[in-house]
Order: sequence, then C-alpha cells, then structure tokens
Amino acid sequence: MDTRVKAWTVDDARLVLAEHGQEHVLRFWESLNAAERNSLLTDVKGIDFRLVDRLIRDWVSSEPPQERFNRIEPIPLIPKAVEDRPDAVAARDAGEEALRQGWVGLFLVAGGQGTRLGFDGPKGAYPIGPFSKKSFFAFHAEKIRNLQRRYSCELPWYIMVSDANEAATLAFFQANAHFGLNPANIVFLKQRMMPCIDNEGRFMLEERGRLAMNPNGHGGCLPAMVEEGVVADARQRGIRMLSYFQVDNWTVKVADPYFIGYHLLRNADMSSKNHWKDDVREAVGVHCRCDGEYRVVEYSELDIYPQLLKLDAHGHMIHGAGNPAIHILSVDFVEWVFNHFDSFPWHRAHKRIPYIDERGERVNPSNPNAYKFETFVFDALRFIRHEPVALEIDRAGEYTPIKEFEGDNSVVTAWRRMSDYWAEWLEAAGGHVPRDDQGRPAIRIEISPEFALTKQEFLSKTVGRTYPTDGNLHIDADGNAVPTA
Ligand code: UD1
Repeated sequence: MDTRVKAWTVDDARLVLAEHGQEHVLRFWESLNAAERNSLLTDVKGIDFRLVDRLIRDWVSSEPPQERFNRIEPIPLIPKAVEDRPDAVAARDAGEEALRQGWVGLFLVAGGQGTRLGFDGPKGAYPIGPFSKKSFFAFHAEKIRNLQRRYSCELPWYIMVSDANEAATLAFFQANAHFGLNPANIVFLKQRMMPCIDNEGRFMLEERGRLAMNPNGHGGCLPAMVEEGVVADARQRGIRMLSYFQVDNWTVKVADPYFIGYHLLRNADMSSKNHWKDDVREAVGVHCRCDGEYRVVEYSELDIYPQLLKLDAHGHMIHGAGNPAIHILSVDFVEWVFNHFDSFPWHRAHKRIPYIDERGERVNPSNPNAYKFETFVFDALRFIRHEPVALEIDRAGEYTPIKEFEGDNSVVTAWRRMSDYWAEWLEAAGGHVPRDDQGRPAIRIEISPEFALTKQEFLSKTVGRTYPTDGNLHIDADGNAVPTA
C-alpha cells in the first residue's frame, strides 16, 4: 500500500468546496500564479468544514435565541493578597515553592491583529516604555529574567501567534536576540484561522488567491496548545500550570506567586484575577455566576443583562469584578477542554470586511457585511471541574491595558498610571517626588521590571540610594538612573 500522503490538488479543493456551497472562491483559479494557487489551496485545506457549516447554519442563516439567565450573582472573590494575612502568606509560600520546583510556565496570547492601536506590526513590538522605548515583549522578558534569577528556575515562555503576525513576531524576537532569554525556552505556537462569512453565508476572498480569514480568538489557544505540542512540551518539562496573560497588558505580574499559590492550594482547574471596575461601563468583561455557572460577560453584551449594570442602595457596583484577562490554567485542564472542544461556545461579530467581488475588484464596504467567528479563553470557565480561584487585585501595577493611543486604555493613560504607582515606591524609599495641584507626580517615571517587580523588592535594593527627581526619572535594569531625553 502506498503510505505517502496524497498532495492536495485543486480537484480535491473543488470537490469539498462544492459539497459545502463555497466553490465560488475558485473563480479566479485560471488566472492565479503558482504562489497564489498554493496559498488558496492552503487556506481551503485548513478549514474545518463541519464546524463552519454549523456556525453558518446557527448564526448566519438563522438568528440564534438570546441566552437568558434566571439568576446572575457576583462571584465570591478572594480579597487582595496582603502580606500579613495568613491565607495570603500560605499562598505566597506555595507559589514560590512551585516556581522553585519548575512547575510553572508562561502563556502569552499575541495572535490578535491590534488594529485599534493603529500600529503597523505585531502589538507586542509596540515601543511602550516612555523613555526606554522598550516593547511589550521586552518588558515581559525582563519580568521573566527577574523571576528566573529570584527563584533559580527556568520559566518556559509559550507565545501564541497567528497567520496575521507570525513572521513579523519571530523576526522581532530574532532581531532582539530573544531579549536575553534562552531561545530553547521560548516556544511559539500558531492558532488557527477561521474564514469570514458574508451575510449570505458565503466565504469571501481577501485577494484573488486568498480567503478572507481571521484568527479564531484567544480561546483558540486551548486546541492549539494540544495540537501544536505545548501540552506535551510542558509535561516533558514537568510543568503543571500556565500563567496566562495578554500581550497588551504592559505591567501584568506574570507568574505571580500569590496567584499560583491560591491556584495550587485550592486545586483549581482555572483561576482568574479580578480588578474592581472604575464604573459599570468600563470596557472589560464582568466575572459573574450565571445560573450557577462561572462566566465572563463581555462589555459589549452588558445591555442584554441590565442587572449587571445595577448599583446597590449605597450607589456601589454590585457586579464590579472586571476581567483583566489574567488566568492560570492547569495543564491537565487544557487537555480536558480540548477533548470537549466540540461544545466550546463561539462568538460572532458583524464587521466591515474588505473583499474582492465577482469582477475581481476590491470593495471596501461602508457597513458591516460579514461575520467573524471567535472563541474566548474565559469560556473555559464553563468546563471547570473544581471551584475556580477568583482573586481580587489592585489595578495599579497589574492592569495597564493598551488598546489605543489616547483615552481610557491608552498609552498616555498607562504612562500616567504607572508614574503614580512608581512614585509611591520612590517615596516609600525616602525620596521626594514633586507633585502637581491635584497631587499627581509632576514628573514621568519608568522603572525596569528586571530591577524591581514589587515595592518590597525596590525598597530592599535601594537602601541608602537616592534618585534625582527634579526631572523625569528612568531607572534601568541595574538600578541606575539613566538619561530620559
Ligand atoms: C479583552 C477581553 C475582555 C477583557 C480585556 C482586558 C475579549 C473578547 N475580551 O478585550 O474581557 O476585559 O481584554 O484587557 O477578549 N488575541 C489572540 N488571538 C485572537 C484574538 C486576540 O491572541 O484571535 C489576543 C490579543 O493579541 C491580545 C488579547 O488576545 O493579547 C486580547 O484581545 P483583544 O481583541 O484586544 O481583546 P479586548 O477587546 O481588548
């Protein structure tokens, strides 16, 4: 018997496309060059037609019924981990031990398109450091170097990319010598793509030889971890849990020992951090329990569940548990979810998607003309087998998302918030920080996370040291003040 895998030909593609009513995407075949033909065949070959047919049937050809819940409750939060509370001390000790034992890996989702920031490149390459101009990737790498030194451990870093940014991300890591980390501990994996579907349930062409596709959402990390060998690699390295974070959260505490410890001690499948929202309309998902099931309700869906917007008799938010998208996932749990991924929920977004029409002309629609389908990692909470950990955190120093240049979740706001945060460290160390009429630091501050990840670390490393604060201040990885101009 011939065991060679038969090459995928245009006839194979035509057959399967015709079977699913999508053969129109081959309409320019005769005029395509070899590279275009190859790319179109690759796109078609990667499609899970059974899944896509189901999504078209349930979400495009018909309107799915709106989910309704009888009871939406706030989730029980573990209060912020303060140093001297016994449960927090026990969690920190357990987390530090897990780090020393090498049970922890890092998982970064960086496959998104980052279009809102208007940056031409992978979002992780954005130069977020106010003075250093270091990228998100560089900041996260500095945190890893700090932790590796502190706990004498190796922290493998799994990074999910997508077709939309894989080549540019890999090139950026190469060009920056992997930010001083051991390349063997940096593992890239690629999430799958989903075809965009027009209002009639048809695939679309982005180019004459390429389908219009989008990454399958950060929930795509769950199958990708198994299919792309992360779970196997983690097991082989003795890793039991993955500290999950988003590329655009500049100051996220990766592999936070307190968080790891709570996860371990409670034998959780999946744990989540929560910050108390600024106001009911803040653009973050809300952690809650819907008819007994743990959920994150997206900010775009808040109006469907008006009870999530309610205030109590004192005017305080009832559902203030915001989702900063910081989780821990047990490796075993990832595999469990993978084995049940057929029932994992999908989300639909109606978007303006440029396409090539029948005449071969590019169309830039002015109204939403197509659907994108995505999965969200927090929907894995529906699959947990043990109570999850929901830990409350301070926003400062943990959650500084960058979605745009100006506005609430912007570069400018993040710089200001971090100057506020780092000013407290300097003052606690006996320094003077000039402040404006509103009591905010009158200077801008940047401190390398390789030098200090926490206030305690900063205080312990700066005994007897003073920093010039008559102008902006940048403290580098060695703890030296360096020019900010
Ligand atoms: C997300 C969360 C929201 C949370 C907020 C915190 C969703 C739907 N919502 O909103 O609940 O409060 O972050 O900042 O996610 N990504 C991939 N592959 C994809 C899509 C995204 O890797 O296919 C990555 C991005 O690179 C980024 C992260 O996921 O690191 C978040 O994606 P984004 O689209 O920016 O989510 P938000 O709408 O900001």
